[in-house]
Amino acid sequence: MGALGRPRRSCLAVPGSSPKMLDKAQGLPADQVFLDLEDAVAPLAKPQARRNIVAALTEGDWGGKARVVRVNDVTTPWAYRDVVEVCEGAGAALDCVMLPKVQDASHVRWLDLTLTQIEKALGLPVGGIGIEAQIESARGLVNVDAIAAASPRVETIIFGPADFMASINMRSLAVGALHPDYPGDPYHYVLMRILMAARAHDKQAIDGPYLQIRDVDGFRAAARRSAALGFDGKWVLHPGQIEPANEVYSPSQEDYDRAELILDAYEYYTSEAGGKLGAVMLGDEMVDEASRKMAMVVAAKGRAAGMVRTSRFTPPAAA
Ligand code: GLV
Ligand code: MG
Repeated sequence: MGALGRPRRSCLAVPGSSPKMLDKAQGLPADQVFLDLEDAVAPLAKPQARRNIVAALTEGDWGGKARVVRVNDVTTPWAYRDVVEVCEGAGAALDCVMLPKVQDASHVRWLDLTLTQIEKALGLPVGGIGIEAQIESARGLVNVDAIAAASPRVETIIFGPADFMASINMRSLAVGALHPDYPGDPYHYVLMRILMAARAHDKQAIDGPYLQIRDVDGFRAAARRSAALGFDGKWVLHPGQIEPANEVYSPSQEDYDRAELILDAYEYYTSEAGGKLGAVMLGDEMVDEASRKMAMVVAAKGRAAGMVRTSRFTPPAAA
């Protein structure tokens, strides 16, 4: 994870129309919150939701969580007002704007330019507000590379399975779950495509919602599938999904310890004192430069999650 790698294991959706939920969300252990102006808010409730969100951001205590607002997509009559009202009212208390239903790079460029104007008008650092881009259609997916590259503000690429399934006529209503007629993971290609674009452009890849909020095992299984590929986190729609997400998208203690051990051992053995070796044995495993890179990924995720190692590498001479 690079500079944009603030932990986003759990990204909690909070409807902007509900002051009660905007209040409660502040105390929950999610890495990120996104205050929603889009599909969780009815058209007639959107103006009040904008005001609720500005108040929650400027007056609330979000305790170090990434603070994101999801605006409406660029084809709607609401998008420009969402961006202007929320960013003018709370730009200094906002980390990112999430843009849904991104279909091509022009959508991101519109948001980038609008944010620049607002930041200049408010005297905020230009580029300070990031962008999260949701991929929710066939067109968005085929353009995902250009979308990821459209602005240095882009921090995450997010899969939006519900809208995506509708966009491609997928015959299922169980969002995020496997389909009994398909002998594999119907989302595998989409997830991998998003992940490749995200990694090629040094962005985070975030999995979307699992709608059966009482089925924690189902949530965990879906999260494990995208975490296994390399995704950084997943949306959570209910407090009961937060801890499972934080756990699934963090390395296990065993993997974290092993990764730190590999890094230490490799550093020692490649040094003068360790014999300047390029490939070494660590227990039963051969470790080389590629292993170091893999270990670095796991170690970085563990460190970002605040994990503490429980074992140390001891050079053989000192053992
Ligand atoms: C999220 O926005 C989705 O459509 O799944
Ligand atoms: Mg959607």
